[in-house]
Amino acid sequence: MNDHSSRHTPPLKLIIAIDGPAGAGKSTIASRLARKLGYVNLESGAMYRALAFKAINHDISFDDEAALVKLAQGSRIHLEPTIGGNRTLLDGHDVSLRIRERDVTEAASRVSVHPEVRAWMVARQREMGAGGGVVMEGRDIGTRVFPDADLKIFLDADPVVREQRRMEQHKIKGEVAASVAADLRERDRRDRTRAASPLVAAGDAVIIDSTKLSEEEVLDQIEKLVRDRIG
Ligand code: DC
Repeated sequence: MNDHSSRHTPPLKLIIAIDGPAGAGKSTIASRLARKLGYVNLESGAMYRALAFKAINHDISFDDEAALVKLAQGSRIHLEPTIGGNRTLLDGHDVSLRIRERDVTEAASRVSVHPEVRAWMVARQREMGAGGGVVMEGRDIGTRVFPDADLKIFLDADPVVREQRRMEQHKIKGEVAASVAADLRERDRRDRTRAASPLVAAGDAVIIDSTKLSEEEVLDQIEKLVRDRIG
């Protein structure tokens, strides 16, 4: 195949970006889609969480951008795709479970507002996804990390439904549920209003509202879009 014809051959190893707010179903959909396609699923949020966890351990303020960037530069943050999601390694240690806890969740939201922290993350994420065959999930994948992604999905859902899903996922009820829901709303607000790469659908993203859709229905829609892209 010469250069000319290969340029017109659609890439088989697509870069698929899935963005959207928390609780819209991104992680589940991204990991199931990747498995079906034989792709690698990368959860970019886990990287912000890993850095946030390290900041907690080193007693670094979540508002100190310069110190956070220095911390990131001295860190090894790896995502290891597994059947059940990503294993997150921070400086060689498995932090996958710890980074899902509430203090880290809150810290990750605050750490991720800083442009220089984001620039460091984006560079790593581009390296990881450059070869294609990836479903990368996050907030700015289609707008910033891979603006030329082959397929961009913006997965959304009604805020009340997203909160309910989170409660069910973590089996939370009562008073705790109310405060967890308030946290989720605050993180959402921060993601959407920050100056650096706010959460917004890319102009060429396909918006899927999962409020009334099952996981299967969302997956079906995305698989059709993938087939269209592959041709
Ligand atoms: O998707 P998640 O909940 O694991 O993300 C953790 C935090 O990181 C969340 O508050 C938003 C932020 N984040 C981001 O700013 N950009 C991304 N691409 C992924 C996550």
